[in-house]
Amino acid sequence: MSATVGAARLVFLGPPGAGKGTQAKILEDRYGVRQISTGDILRANVAAGTPLGAKAKSFMDAGDLVPDDVIIGMMEGELGTLQSFVLDGFPRTVAQAEALDLMLARLGLPLTAVVLFDASRPALIERLTGRWTNPRSGRTYHSVLNPPQVSGVDDEDGGPLVQRKDDTHEVVVDRLSTYDQKTAPLVDYYAKTGLLLRLDGLASIDDVTNALLAGLDARPGSVAR
Ligand code: AP5
Repeated sequence: MSATVGAARLVFLGPPGAGKGTQAKILEDRYGVRQISTGDILRANVAAGTPLGAKAKSFMDAGDLVPDDVIIGMMEGELGTLQSFVLDGFPRTVAQAEALDLMLARLGLPLTAVVLFDASRPALIERLTGRWTNPRSGRTYHSVLNPPQVSGVDDEDGGPLVQRKDDTHEVVVDRLSTYDQKTAPLVDYYAKTGLLLRLDGLASIDDVTNALLAGLDARPGSVAR
């Protein structure tokens, strides 16, 4: 498969743990499509003690969404002149989706696909409570489902793996409920645009990647042509 990058401008949608970050990282590593993860940006700000991090922390710790105005202001600075990107974790409310439409219209860079990773609740809880993350690269592993070659160490850059503070059972349940209330309505929002590509997030990582590439290949946002 060629590693040439087409102009893929993607939104990855789906509940916590459905595999958005895993697949976004694969597209970035293989095809150079830039992953923009709002969760990673927010966690970096919390770790650095910035004013943005201070605003976001209590919401993230509770499994709730950071307020729309904070997120929309942050994302306006992120998109810039990028021709290809995966938005991983944004938008998460209808207000954020409407703001994204305006931003992209101003830039003249319409979305090429919105990918929905479908997955059932018990599997998501298992995935998140067993997840290990490299906070520097955002790459994720799972103690059972996708273990690193050496426990606690990133295969790619040797960095230490940590468990996210919001991956406890209690906070995961709250995050799933937040998704149902505030983010799930975006499925209808994007279904109306004809951009929605639905994938089974419970398939193996390789099978999800293959289905993703096959689905994108049929659209203008192909990454592998
Ligand atoms: P964020 O960091 O975006 O978390 P999330 O949406 O809850 O998503 P996750 O990163 O938990 O899951 P994922 O789908 O990426 O799964 P992954 O690929 O890692 O957001 C965190 C917080 O920030 C939010 O709660 C909120 O407070 C705030 N925030 C962020 N964006 C915001 C916004 N736009 N507005 C307001 N607030 C915002 O996979 C999970 C595990 O499963 C891993 O261990 C992985 O190895 C494993 N796995 C993945 N795929 C497979 C597979 N196919 N088979 C087996 N194992 C798999």
